[in-house]
Amino acid sequence: MKQIVAIYPGSFDPVTNGHLDLIHRGCKLFDRLVVAIARNPDKGDSLFSLDERIEMLKAMTADLDNVSVDTFEGLLMTYCIEKNANAVLRGIRAVSDYEFELQMALMNRKIEPRVETVFMMPAEKYSYLSSRIVREIASFGGPLTGLVPEFVEERLHRRVAEKRSATFAIPTK
Ligand code: PNS
Repeated sequence: MKQIVAIYPGSFDPVTNGHLDLIHRGCKLFDRLVVAIARNPDKGDSLFSLDERIEMLKAMTADLDNVSVDTFEGLLMTYCIEKNANAVLRGIRAVSDYEFELQMALMNRKIEPRVETVFMMPAEKYSYLSSRIVREIASFGGPLTGLVPEFVEERLHRRVAEKRSATFAIPTK
């Protein structure tokens, strides 16, 4: 029987409970699910390094046998073919996501018609959640409980404190 291998691509800066909700749903549907972090050299403004994002995602998916974590550079469709993947998993939280996701899915289909994009909805309680909003709340010391796993919450607090002390560091010269 044909194995369905799906790629769940994204920036994951950092992984949120919404991402994890989708990973849990996706791994029940597909034979294998590869969470693929985009190594985008243009995005130099990430809060966490690629290695940190890999570490967090691996820790949070360690109990899921058919889920692996990887990175990719360049076109998603090229990576899908390299990995023999037949599907891409993307989450749609609200209507506002739809336009961009549709454009991306149709363009990806044009590039590589053998790969199908599958959309899934996270639980409603995560419909307003995004990594960007999590980073913003963290930067102002706001509450992160329920938005990200505790492990990630700790990392966020630590990173914000590091950034703050770097900003206020008094130059020695
Ligand atoms: O978490 P994000 O930022 O929504 O993820 C976007 C991502 C990484 C999935 C998207 O930008 C992507 O696929 N980038 C790889 C380059 C590519 O294939 N671009 C063409 C897409 S139509």
